[in-house]
Amino acid sequence: MAEFSLPANSKIKAGKIHKAPEGATDIKSFYVYRYNPDSEENPCVDVFEVDMGSCGPMVLDALIKIKNEMDSSLTFRRSCREGVCGSCAMNVDGTNTLSCIKAIR
Ligand code: FES
Repeated sequence: MAEFSLPANSKIKAGKIHKAPEGATDIKSFYVYRYNPDSEENPCVDVFEVDMGSCGPMVLDALIKIKNEMDSSLTFRRSCREGVCGSCAMNVDGTNTLSCIKAIR
């Protein structure tokens, strides 16, 4: 039987935890796999605690909120926000989907 092992620089490490703002009552945590091809660092998973009281219903809404309010270095593609163009395709909860038409709940 063949054995495979991942290169050391491909192993996922723990990332940062971005806390929800004070007073937030409806909090949902988003685990985001992140990788910077320009650095030598391993990929990581950052945790973002989003206040759902001021967030839209779709996964893309949460990502936009995270980028605008919590971490401007978060990068992703999007365009139509109607499930037409396919720009926002990503893996959500282990399933490949369009984040603009994938409900958070
Ligand atoms: S942004 Fe076009 S399909 Fe999601």
